[in-house]
Amino acid sequence: MSLIKQKIAIIGTGKMGSILLQSMLNQNLLSADQLKATDKAADKGLPARMALPVPVGSNNPEAAAWADIILLCVKPQVVKTVVEEIRPQLEESKLLISIAASVPTGLIEKAAGISVPVVRAMPNTACSIGSGMTGICRGRFANEEHLAMTRSIFNTFGRSVIIEEGLMDAVTGLSGSGPAFVYIILESLAEAGVKVGLPRDIATELAAQTVLGAAQMVLETGHHPALLKDAVTTPAGCTIDGILELEEGKLRVTLIKAVVKAAERARQLVHSH
Ligand SMILES: NC(=O)c1ccc[n+]([C@@H]2O[C@H](COP(=O)([O-])OP(=O)(O)OC[C@H]3O[C@@H](n4cnc5c(N)ncnc54)[C@H](OP(=O)(O)O)[C@@H]3O)[C@@H](O)[C@H]2O)c1
Repeated sequence: MSLIKQKIAIIGTGKMGSILLQSMLNQNLLSADQLKATDKAADKGLPARMALPVPVGSNNPEAAAWADIILLCVKPQVVKTVVEEIRPQLEESKLLISIAASVPTGLIEKAAGISVPVVRAMPNTACSIGSGMTGICRGRFANEEHLAMTRSIFNTFGRSVIIEEGLMDAVTGLSGSGPAFVYIILESLAEAGVKVGLPRDIATELAAQTVLGAAQMVLETGHHPALLKDAVTTPAGCTIDGILELEEGKLRVTLIKAVVKAAERARQLVHSH
C-alpha cells in the first residue's frame, strides 16, 4: 500500500479534520482529487472550512464508498453512530483511521461488524504547522502495513510514535493536552519578562523561542533534559537561584499531576461511550 494512489475521505471537518486536510495538501502528500471531506452540516461555512480547497459534502456513506482510507475526525461520542452509518460501505481492503480521543479500536470494529483494519491516532494541534506529535496504535485486524501507511500520513504533520493501545490515554494526557500546559508556561514566562521590564511582544518572543530551542535541543542532541539543564546552570550563577524558586513552587510535581489527571480523564471518557 503506497499513498500515491490512495483516496482519503475525512469524516468530520471541524477543527482537527480541517487541520489535517489542509496539512495533507500543503505538504503535497496527496492532491485535492484524492480527498473528499464531509461534515454534519456541510453548509455551515466555518471560516476554516471556507478556506479549504476541497468541497465539504454531507454524505458520509458516499465518501466512505469512494475512499480507500477513511479518516474519522468526529467527536468521540458520535464515532459509533458514524461507523454504523457507513457500515455497508466498509470492506476489509479499506483502512479506517480514527483520531477520536478515548474511543477504543474494539468499539469501532464492533460497530463496523466486519474485520476491517482499524488504526487509532492521537495527533495534537501543532499538526497545523508541521510540528505535531501523534501517537498511533492498531486494532485487531490492522497489520504493520496499515501502521506504516498511517504513520506516513501523520509524519507529514510532524513526528509520530507507534504504541500499544493501552498507552493511548497516556499519549492524550501528555502530547494531546500538553500544548495547553506549555502555553500556560509560555504565558507565565512572558509575564515574567514584563515584570522584569521587557516590552510584552519582546517578552513573548523571547519566551516562545526559548521553549522551542530547549525542545529542539532535547530532540536533536538526544541528551537527557537534566544534562542540558546542568549545562545552563553555572555554580553560584543566576539560573540556580531561579531553579530553587521552581522547586519551591513545586513546578515538577504540578506538571506531573496535570498529565496524570488529563490521562485519567481520557480513560474515564472510554467508559462513557
Ligand atoms: N482538538 C484537538 O486538539 C484534538 C486532538 C486530538 C484528537 N482530537 C479528536 O479529534 C476529534 C475531532 O475534534 P475537533 O476538536 O476537531 O472537534 P470539532 O471541531 O467539533 O469537529 C467535529 C466535526 O464533526 C462534525 N460531525 C458531527 N457529527 C457528524 C456526522 N455524523 N458526520 C459528519 N460530521 C459530523 C461536527 O459537526 P457539528 O459541530 O455540527 O456537530 C464537527 O464539525 C475528536 O474525536 C477529538 O477527540 C482532537
